Amino acid sequence: MNNAQPIGVFDSGIGGMTVVRALIRLLPYENIVYFGDTARVPYGPKSPQVVREYALQDTDVLLQHDVKFIVTACNTVSAVALDIVQKRAKIPVVGVILPGAEAAVQTSKKKRIGVIGTLGTIFSNAYTNAIRQLDPNVQVFGQPCPLFVPLAEEGWIDHKATELIAKEYLFPLTLKKIDTLVLGCTHYPILRNVINKVLQDSVTLIDSGEATAVVVKKMLAELNLENTSKLKPNLQFYVSDVPHKFAEIGERFLGTKLGKVHRVEGFLS
Ligand code: DGL
Repeated sequence: MNNAQPIGVFDSGIGGMTVVRALIRLLPYENIVYFGDTARVPYGPKSPQVVREYALQDTDVLLQHDVKFIVTACNTVSAVALDIVQKRAKIPVVGVILPGAEAAVQTSKKKRIGVIGTLGTIFSNAYTNAIRQLDPNVQVFGQPCPLFVPLAEEGWIDHKATELIAKEYLFPLTLKKIDTLVLGCTHYPILRNVINKVLQDSVTLIDSGEATAVVVKKMLAELNLENTSKLKPNLQFYVSDVPHKFAEIGERFLGTKLGKVHRVEGFLS
């Protein structure tokens, strides 16, 4: 394995760019190849069987780019398909669930943790299981928030409609007296301000993407896989459909221009 090989990151679409942003902050010299399955997004409402099939195909796209490490940025994939991605890849693979769960357990004093995510992530109970395995005394309350995904993509970050919807989704969690909330979906960090506003800053938000970047950095160091070059890294973006839209929204997610976004053929929705 060559240390200059890229880290591969994949997601159901654009959302994984919040994980890329966190990776770039912590690992500014790593080359990254990103694949977003924009032809078949969203994965959140789909069955685990379908998501597992898609996840294998996404993994194969990254393996063709000779990646040294894979991050499954998508929470839904991490929740239902991490095992088969690991088996297929035969290189280190990290999902976002365990890092997010660990950060939440370390943060929660009252041992009452909320988790928000897609329908697939919440119904899989992946966060609940991971958290309770780390600390069986923690109570976990899950809440799917599917409408947050299109709202974040629309850029409705300070919008009244987003606040109304956030109130509706988050109200049941406030009744549970949680002190920590896992943002268990790639898009939710984009809506961090509105979520904070609705929860009146009484709850600490855990960005599972940021927690994952910390784990990736640690693992690269342990495995001696960090890029030793201090040159500007190469960031490559691939999608399965509408690259121009990805470039436009991706810029908002990443806070910087993306350069050329390439289309991978052969992904039918
Ligand atoms: N990337 C997905 C996740 O983090 C959200 C979008 C989707 O439903 O595909 O679960």
